[in-house]
Amino acid sequence: MKKSFQWTEDGREQLEITLEIEDSAITHVDMKCVGCLPFLEMSQSMKTKLNGSIADLTAPTGTDHASMIWRQIISEIQEEWQLPVPQEELCHCRKVSTQRVDRAVVFGAHTIDEVRKRTSANTGCGTCKDDLMQIINHRLKVG
Ligand code: FES
Repeated sequence: MKKSFQWTEDGREQLEITLEIEDSAITHVDMKCVGCLPFLEMSQSMKTKLNGSIADLTAPTGTDHASMIWRQIISEIQEEWQLPVPQEELCHCRKVSTQRVDRAVVFGAHTIDEVRKRTSANTGCGTCKDDLMQIINHRLKVG
């Protein structure tokens, strides 16, 4: 069975992986990758680890964007990926999507103030603060 996974960010990191899987184990990996040097280096390193039992895959533990993207990919391969905020729009006052907030966190906005500056989310009534914190905590959580 073949399964594909991808991460895309316009003008930034892009990753496309196709796995051949037999009996819950990876037998072959095809990978296309575009992005900055740390992301390319991590992707090359992770590609070598994509073999054997899917349940035994381990994700990187850093809080840099390359680690966060790869944590998501590994979690998707293990069918465990889920953002803690299910709705498409996180901030209704400023009409900011959950994905936009999530991407801001991945690319370095690790506090509420940083996310506010980059996305304008949570700069109105303030009721989306808990959802915003959940995204930050989810992305920074390691292990
Ligand atoms: S819903 Fe985000 S500031 Fe009001």
